[in-house]
Amino acid sequence: VRRKLLLSYLSVTLFVLLALELPLGLSFANAERRRLTGQVQTEAFAVALRSDGSLAAARTGDASTLARLAETVRQQTAMSVMVVDARGRVVATAGPGEPPRGSMHPTPEVDAALRGRETTVDRAIGDHDGVAVAVPVLAGSRVVGAVRVSASLALVGERTQRNWLLLLALGGVVALVVLLVSVLLARSFTRPLAELDAGAAALGNGNLATRVSVPDDPPELNGLARSFNATAERLEALVRSQQEFVADASHQLRTPLAALSLRLENLEAGDREFQVEDIEGARAEVARLTRLVDGLLLLARTSDRAPTAIAVEVRPVVQGRLDAWTAVATERGVCLDARVDPVVARIVPGRLEQILDNLLSNALDVAPAGSAVRVRGRRDGARVFVEVRDAGPGMTPEQRRRAFDRFWRADPVRKDRGGFGLGLAIVRRLVTDSGGEVELTEAPGGGLSVRVRLPAPDPVAGPSETAAQPAAASGSG
Ligand SMILES: Nc1ncnc2c1ncn2[C@@H]1O[C@H](COP(=O)(O)OP(=O)(O)O)[C@@H](O)[C@H]1O
Ligand SMILES: [Mg+2]
Repeated sequence: VRRKLLLSYLSVTLFVLLALELPLGLSFANAERRRLTGQVQTEAFAVALRSDGSLAAARTGDASTLARLAETVRQQTAMSVMVVDARGRVVATAGPGEPPRGSMHPTPEVDAALRGRETTVDRAIGDHDGVAVAVPVLAGSRVVGAVRVSASLALVGERTQRNWLLLLALGGVVALVVLLVSVLLARSFTRPLAELDAGAAALGNGNLATRVSVPDDPPELNGLARSFNATAERLEALVRSQQEFVADASHQLRTPLAALSLRLENLEAGDREFQVEDIEGARAEVARLTRLVDGLLLLARTSDRAPTAIAVEVRPVVQGRLDAWTAVATERGVCLDARVDPVVARIVPGRLEQILDNLLSNALDVAPAGSAVRVRGRRDGARVFVEVRDAGPGMTPEQRRRAFDRFWRADPVRKDRGGFGLGLAIVRRLVTDSGGEVELTEAPGGGLSVRVRLPAPDPVAGPSETAAQPAAASGSG
């Protein structure tokens, strides 16, 4: 990326430099040429002014004054001079490439000058380009001859060359500055990219604490770095919660396994008296283990995206679960009281049953004999509320806050009811996976009230999905 950026910067710069410097250099060269032309004209007029008398003398055969004049000009200005008389015969010359004295030298510019017109033409002198200016020599208003002064551009060549070199050096400096700036710019673009690259590699190698710095600029990289960090954070949290889960689960599995192995040791010791009791105890431990493992599996499994939720009628489900728990309730002298509106909730089939089982089991654990466990169901707008309330001791606000933690129990010593502290954790998982919420509050008159909020089905999709409901209800367990 960096090389491409640099190349594009440099090529643009070179193009701009060429576009600016080429015309500039050419106009410099033109200016030099015009300056030289001006000088040649001045010189030609000066010679012409001083020539009219000498031309008259030359007609009588004495051209030495003119020759001296031409030679002086030549020495002072390095220009070539040629003087002709009115008929175009060369009278005096100075400088290389001029025709011999006495010859006729008809050139367009000299002819024009003899007709009274000052003329400027390009004229090659030796190997160089040059300019020539021909002016008439006047005596009064009569043309008595002409003077041609020519100069080679080599005279100004050095200055032109110096201009070109100056422009070249200037361009070089500009290109260098641009190169420097673009290297810095390109690095500021590529550094965050390189850091992201390294970060992604580190994350891939399992270093989940990897974060990259977020550049303000450009916005694309800013967004990329942000989402990279967010992804890394989520990954880290996910992995950490999985690790905690595995640690908790292994820890919890140890206790029933230890009890089981104790029972088996007793059996091995062969004390006949205890055999039946130990076998029964071992069975009970295996049952506990099975329940624990089932709960753990449930908690572990619900994290992958839930199967499709459908519209489920609440009342038959509640009725089914109450029927199942009636025996336990009767045994404890507790009355089950359900008042559920004919409402429909959107939830994965079978889950409402699991939720109710856990809540009823908790309520029956604490409900004093002679009290009632109440189940209520109603709809409020797009939400369906299912509430289980008991008249037990209730929970303190601190306990309510922790109640949904895995393996948390208010009174771990009292494990006669055989809970592992997974029930409420599972309830919350099931409810939130369905897009709902669960909340613990104090019931009026003491006791705990657990309120489950579930989404009501789409009014459009509702009726057709409700049709599938009886099959879903039969899948309860
Ligand atoms: N209805 C309730 N009244 C009072 N305390 C409760 C109630 N339900 C649950 N708890 C407390 O919350 C703890 C966690 O409940 P739960 O997650 O179902 O685990 P478990 O039932 O296996 O103990 C229970 O041990 C109990 O102390
Ligand atoms: Mg429980």
